Amino acid sequence: MAKKPLRSQKSYGKLDRDGFIHRSWIKATGLPDHVFDGRPIIGIANTWSELVTCQVHLRELAEFVKRGVWEAGGVPIEFPAMSLPETQMRPTAMLFRNLLAMEVEESIRANPIDGVVLLGGCDKTTPGLLMGAASVDLPAIFVSSGAMLNGKFEGRDIGSGTDVWRFSEMVRAGEMTLPEFLSAESGMSRSAGVCNTMGTASSMACIVEALGMSLPNNAALPAVDARRRVLAHMTGNRIVQMVKDDVKPSDILTRAAFENAIIMHAATGGSTNAVVHLLALAGRVGVPLTLEDFDNIGRECPLLVNLMPSGKYLMEDFCYAGGVPAVMNELGAVFRREAITVSGLTQGELADAGKVFNRDVIGSLQSPVGPSSGVWVLRGNLCPQGAILKPSAASPELLTHRGRAVVFEDIEDYHARIDDPDLEVDETSILVLKGCGPKGYPGMPEVGNMALPPKLLQKGVRDMVRISDARMSGTAYGTVILHVAPEAEAGGPLALVRNGDEIAFDGPNRSLELLVDDAELARRREAWEAARAPSKFDRGWYKLYIDTVMQADRGADLDFLVGKSSSEVTRESH
Ligand code: FES
Repeated sequence: MAKKPLRSQKSYGKLDRDGFIHRSWIKATGLPDHVFDGRPIIGIANTWSELVTCQVHLRELAEFVKRGVWEAGGVPIEFPAMSLPETQMRPTAMLFRNLLAMEVEESIRANPIDGVVLLGGCDKTTPGLLMGAASVDLPAIFVSSGAMLNGKFEGRDIGSGTDVWRFSEMVRAGEMTLPEFLSAESGMSRSAGVCNTMGTASSMACIVEALGMSLPNNAALPAVDARRRVLAHMTGNRIVQMVKDDVKPSDILTRAAFENAIIMHAATGGSTNAVVHLLALAGRVGVPLTLEDFDNIGRECPLLVNLMPSGKYLMEDFCYAGGVPAVMNELGAVFRREAITVSGLTQGELADAGKVFNRDVIGSLQSPVGPSSGVWVLRGNLCPQGAILKPSAASPELLTHRGRAVVFEDIEDYHARIDDPDLEVDETSILVLKGCGPKGYPGMPEVGNMALPPKLLQKGVRDMVRISDARMSGTAYGTVILHVAPEAEAGGPLALVRNGDEIAFDGPNRSLELLVDDAELARRREAWEAARAPSKFDRGWYKLYIDTVMQADRGADLDFLVGKSSSEVTRESH
């Protein structure tokens, strides 16, 4: 079969005015004549930034990717992509995931590159990079940031996020002093890298490996481990061969790959955020994937990994215990072994090389860490397009519960009233928060794990059923029903809930019902529509986002970004 001409040669291979322009201006970066002789040009999309420890080391890691690209006969060219620091951006980094995806898509498509290495790691950068690359469909491979070292406080390990929520509740309950709380800050985040729990960043890194979009061991190697540099080098090697073999995301991101991602998500007790990201990615590559797939496929697999927030250990421990290849090995026939990966090997071949070195950290199918995990997908008149709950992070006694709603109309209302000693609430109440969906906040922030009222914390209550159209941090825990769709701002039934309404949650039967009759709901809807004010966001990204974002059950992607446009651009700039 005749070899496909390299895409970059359409710019750098021309001996005319256009070729002159393309070559001359990039030669000024220090590239000699001979690199334009038809070797693959490899872009490195780098989300490096000093605004986020999760990606602060990525320029250094990019140098190792470059070594690998040069060694394999390619030409590496690094370019920036939005960084999306989860802990710094307001109102929420999720508002900008799709903007990153657009930026990456158009940066890849517009420039004369043949393949791309994606460097990212903080929560939204991994899905943003993958979504953008998938919509161009040039050969692409991922190198994740890796997690930071285990946190340390008063002689013991503490986990990113998970212990923040716990300590904060202890302060509110009077069990921890403020100076103690503040002294935990410096010990929690001790190095470059992403959160060290199985939060969204590490969940997505495990998923990248399970999807087959990275070389093995990409998820668990710590950010500062020298072996991550070696992985970056080998990734540089590999992308050059992938370009020669024309291995594209659409070859890797098959239905089997997504099923493996869901199985890995369940086995690792992964973040609920992975659900929206995988749905959005599947939409880009045209793989049919539904909310129910997470419940149905995840059920095949128990919890195998004992990491916070569902368990006890941290990502560094996971690495030393064998990481993702070890989990794949334990999964046996549950994993879709035939799925191909960017390594050139099948997932089955990679799984065969995996081995568990610490049974406290990675269990087996015969002796799992916990029962079937993953996410539960709820339906009912309160969430006609679905809602989700992470059972491994919930209190077993609350998984079937009926209670009266204590309603907060938006996040400001919640903050204004939650600490009020006169708030009418007890441990059987259900906290309901509106206005935190994709359109409502906007951006669907991680506020669904609302802190409990101090008066209940002081009585020893540590969990309550909470319902919202928000997401929650992958590091959080509790009986928290999330991603209610349609959201309140889009006119979902959540908008109609009032204080004192009875709500029935039946987890085992996957149902969530507002026990208010239809006639009363119709009256409330009329009143809600009459009281609507125009959006205060009337320009810029916020407006484009609010006007076009889809609901959580469609991955909160923008409606016009679903699918792909290929890498073809025929027109020149001059
Ligand atoms: Fe970046 Fe947690 S803040 S991964």
